[in-house]
Amino acid sequence: MVKAVVIGAAGGIGQPLSLLLKQSTLISELALYDVVNAPGVAADISHINTPAKVTGYLPKEDGLAKALQGADIIVIPAGVPRKPGMTRDDLFNINAGIVRDLAVKIAEVSPKAFILVISNPVNSTVPIVAEVLKKKGVFDPKRLFGVTTLDVVRASTFVSEAAGKPEDSLSFRIPVIGGHSGVTIVPLLSQTSPSIAVDQQKIEELTNRIQFGGDEVVKAKDGAGSATLSMAYAGARFATAVLEAAAGKKSDFPEMGYVHLSADEAGAKEVTSVIGNSTSFFSVPLELGPNGVEKILPLGKLSEYEQGLLKKAVEDLGGNIGKGVAFVESSK
Ligand code: NAD
Ligand code: LMR
Repeated sequence: MVKAVVIGAAGGIGQPLSLLLKQSTLISELALYDVVNAPGVAADISHINTPAKVTGYLPKEDGLAKALQGADIIVIPAGVPRKPGMTRDDLFNINAGIVRDLAVKIAEVSPKAFILVISNPVNSTVPIVAEVLKKKGVFDPKRLFGVTTLDVVRASTFVSEAAGKPEDSLSFRIPVIGGHSGVTIVPLLSQTSPSIAVDQQKIEELTNRIQFGGDEVVKAKDGAGSATLSMAYAGARFATAVLEAAAGKKSDFPEMGYVHLSADEAGAKEVTSVIGNSTSFFSVPLELGPNGVEKILPLGKLSEYEQGLLKKAVEDLGGNIGKGVAFVESSK
């Protein structure tokens, strides 16, 4: 019996993500929470003839606590999205407070659940959740994830197209490490499997497209928001991987996730030796298991170009993480 909760369930990501989770036979109860329209979305989705029982909650009558009660996995796409001309960090002022307040309730009601944070800026919102949980004495680094799967999904799509094999996009695997914004996103194209024969110029074009793929969607939506459907797909994929591993299934390939490196000290040591710098949070290849992060897997061999990308990523990430930590410290 698995209870999944979507917070921000009436939004652009929340609705299709809830739809995809309703299709999962791993989930027996699906609680949808939002500040608007969650009961409506829940009523709609509840008519689908898959096993999960669906409920919807608003803030009134302590709806968030009711939604979170007994949660095994909580997925958070709550908050505002970008408009053209904005960076993800420009969302911090609004989303940091939203995520902090949600984390407070999670710490009180369902601290043992897996927590998957989608709300941007992920580089800072995940540290915010961690700090709140730490303050409440319930932080388990193995169970908190920033969802960076969309970067991995984009990498498979763009690389398979560049290789002239778009029909094989599902089997193209590219580790994407670091964070989730601009230059903090580091695709390891030298480790593409199956390998591709492209020159350095193409590698740099692909790297740039993966790093700034979110901007393509923001521009195309022209003020109506950012990626929602591809994100719902990516979020459901990552949530499914976490739930399958919790149920004891071994995965065929590692998913990436933005985690606190203390989730696996030995793995973190190896990662830090490759990064050549210290960072508390990083998106890394994960072996997932019944308790969440089982192992942080080695990053493998990096090209000189990728080592240069990493250096820049770690510099930027430090500021993003520090901003999140400082926000919680300065909160009452
Ligand atoms: P949206 O505006 O369509 O939906 C957000 C939803 O959150 C709305 O329904 C809103 O009512 C709800 N919400 C706001 N405050 C809330 C609160 N306190 N509690 C519960 N719900 C609340 O936005 P969207 O397009 O779905 O994007 C949501 C977030 O996801 C944005 O921050 C966006 O930048 C981020 N995002 C992340 C990734 C990623 O790869 N991690 C990808 C795409 C978007
Ligand atoms: C994305 O990568 O599409 C999301 O982070 C949304 C955005 O703001 O680009």
